[in-house]
Amino acid sequence: MTKKRTAPMIRAMKGGEKIVCITAYDLASARLCEEASADLVLVGDSLGNVVLGHDSTLPVTMDDMLHHVRAVRRAVKTALLVADMPFGSYEPSDADAVRNAVALMKVGAEAVKLEGLHLSAIEAILRAGIPVMGHLGFTPQHVHEFGGHKVQAKGDAADTLTAHAKALSEAGVFSIVLELVPRESARRATEACPVPTIGIGAGPDCDGQIQVFHDIVGLTDKQYRHAKRYVDGYQLFREGIGQYREDVKAGRFPEERHSF
Ligand code: KIV
Repeated sequence: MTKKRTAPMIRAMKGGEKIVCITAYDLASARLCEEASADLVLVGDSLGNVVLGHDSTLPVTMDDMLHHVRAVRRAVKTALLVADMPFGSYEPSDADAVRNAVALMKVGAEAVKLEGLHLSAIEAILRAGIPVMGHLGFTPQHVHEFGGHKVQAKGDAADTLTAHAKALSEAGVFSIVLELVPRESARRATEACPVPTIGIGAGPDCDGQIQVFHDIVGLTDKQYRHAKRYVDGYQLFREGIGQYREDVKAGRFPEERHSF
């Protein structure tokens, strides 16, 4: 039986066995990630895009996050359950950051993730006894600042990525997501940084990988270069629902065995 994953355990996996991370947003996705023995399940604010239909993560609220963390908590037993801090929940003040991180822990998160180099907010959350995961490179909450979904830390900017990864490690994060950065930049940051890096569109040299649930099971209409579609879930579900429609129209469903 797999041992319950904790933030210190994920931290200790640096440089060893690759760390498998997936997002989940509800009971079914969380149960599937748990059954697949993911090491870490993230209730990502990507739920704004893939579950709520927004065109960015910016509209996601603390209420949205609390609602989805509660559902995921009911299925995740072994993986470490991390909750994203949504846009606006940690930037105004360290007190806001701690209050909102505490609220996510109250509904079952075991750690929180926040984007960028908010060192004093991170240190304040850590002082409250809450493990923190960092997130560098393309940080979706800054999509307007970047001017779109663009690869970050190219060329000389790789040095800045490494410096920021070191600063987050020194602040005490237990791991760092690196999103949409060139393989070589991610490799250098991974080598320089004492905590595990978790890549998404950051190449194979990171200590682990994270993917958005809907991307790998084929439930999104977009096919991203950084994501591999392991199953065409949309097509499978579409066929199943189409067959249900045909059966109802033709009087083939329900059958005797579905009736009481
Ligand atoms: O919100 C999210 O799902 C994320 C992952 C893509 C890392 O931040």
